[in-house]
Parts: sequence; structure tokens; C-alpha cells
Amino acid sequence: MKNTVATFAAMKTRGEKISMLTAYDYTTARLVSDAGVNAILVGDSLGQVMLGYSSTIAVTVEDMIHHGVAVVRGAGDALVVVDMPFMSYQVSVEEALRNAGRIFKETGCAAVKLEGGAEIAPVIRRLTAAGIPVMGHIGMMPQHVHQYGGFKMQGKSVQGANRIVEDALAVECAGAFAVVLECIPAGVAARITERLSIPTIGIGAGAACDGQVLVNQDMLGMFADFRPKFVRRFAEAGDLMRSAFRAYDAAVKSGDFPGTDETPGA
Ligand code: KIV
Repeated sequence: MKNTVATFAAMKTRGEKISMLTAYDYTTARLVSDAGVNAILVGDSLGQVMLGYSSTIAVTVEDMIHHGVAVVRGAGDALVVVDMPFMSYQVSVEEALRNAGRIFKETGCAAVKLEGGAEIAPVIRRLTAAGIPVMGHIGMMPQHVHQYGGFKMQGKSVQGANRIVEDALAVECAGAFAVVLECIPAGVAARITERLSIPTIGIGAGAACDGQVLVNQDMLGMFADFRPKFVRRFAEAGDLMRSAFRAYDAAVKSGDFPGTDETPGA
């Protein structure tokens, strides 16, 4: 059955956990969807794991559309959410609507995600009023990395924690259908999950969240540049790929590949 924003709401009501993974291409989207994962995020983390940037800052609307279209083609029943990249929604509500409208129409995704709390509420309100479902993203917001001085946990002080709770309430009140809580203390995430009627999707925010999201290259053990503490590696696909590439290299160089079976007409 196709996952929709209504599915998310119903799962929260029933107390069922929501699974979400990132994907940036057709083949991965098909594999994720075949596994029964509820939602796929075309995250602007593609800046790091697909394009090799050190942060998400340089990612463009065109990048998101390029990858989003491919993921939607392979997503099957998974709900696809596409990130709005840095500076595509901060300048004005009108520009945010124009960019979200392009992402929504040109990719065929089900929703967009954007970072920010109370300050971004007018944008969330305008997008949802136009019929574009919005997933919020608060706590550690990767597009603010230079302001934090690195990828650092947020909400450790009482004041910081209270601000994140206020942000969560503002995002819900503005009309978001769900909110990502990134890298905040588990107790703060539990407080927010308890207070909100929309689902919380955690990443580095503990087990009380209504769902979880991970970057697929992280959980597959493929991305070595940066390893967040909260990631569980469900496979060592990086090792597997390296050894397959080595075997291929050796087979080509020794003349073992292609063999007769792999030679058309032989
Ligand atoms: O861009 C991304 O992949 C994200 C997740 C880390 C939540 O925003």
C-alpha cells in the first residue's frame, strides 16, 4: 500500500514506528522500497555522500530535482520527501514557494523538507496552504554547520532544549506533517514526541521518536569521511564493494575476464 502523509499520521496514532532512509538514485530507491521502508528522503546530504562536498551548503535546487526525479521513479510504495537546499527558502516566502513548487512539480515527490523552527514557520504555512506537504527539521541543522562551528549536538543546555521544544511546536502549528529531530538529547526528543500530534523522525535523537532516518551510505558502511556516533552499520557494503572491485581488476588484468560464457557468440 502506498505510504502517504496520512499513513504517517495513522502510524503515530497507532504507535507504530516509521522507517525512513535516504536515497539519491533509482536503483537504491527500488532496493529501499522493496525492503518495505516507509519513506525515502532525497536529502541534501547528497552534497557529501554523492558529490563529495564537505557540507550541504553548495547543493542547488537543480541537484535536488536531478536526484529527486530518479528516486521517485524507483520509490514504489515509499513516500518520497525531497530536501530544499540552502538559500532556496530563506530569502522570502515567495521565493520559497517558487522553489518548493519546482521541486514538487518536477520530481513528483510527495513532500519537501526544510530546516528551521519558529523563524521558518511562515514559509511552512505558505507551502502547506499551496498544497505542498512539508516535513520540518530541527535540532542540529546541517545547513547551519558554520554557525555551530561543526556538526555538534544541539539542545544540551536547559535554554537550548526549551528553544528546540518551542521550535517543534511552531513547526507543527504552521502545518508540517512530520518533523525530523537531528542530534539532540534523547530526553528532549522524548518530550517533543510526547507533546506533538505529528510524528517525530529521529536521527541521533534516541529511541522515543516516532520513527528513525539514516543516511544509507552511513548505515551500509560505505562512507568513511565522517562517522557519526549515532549510526549503526547494518552492513559493511564498502568492504564488499572494494573486494569486488579488486577481484574485477585482477580478473581483467590476468585475462580471466571475460571467459567463454561471458563472450557473446563464442
Ligand atoms: O540531508 C539529509 O540526509 C537529512 C537527514 C540527515 C535527516 O536531512
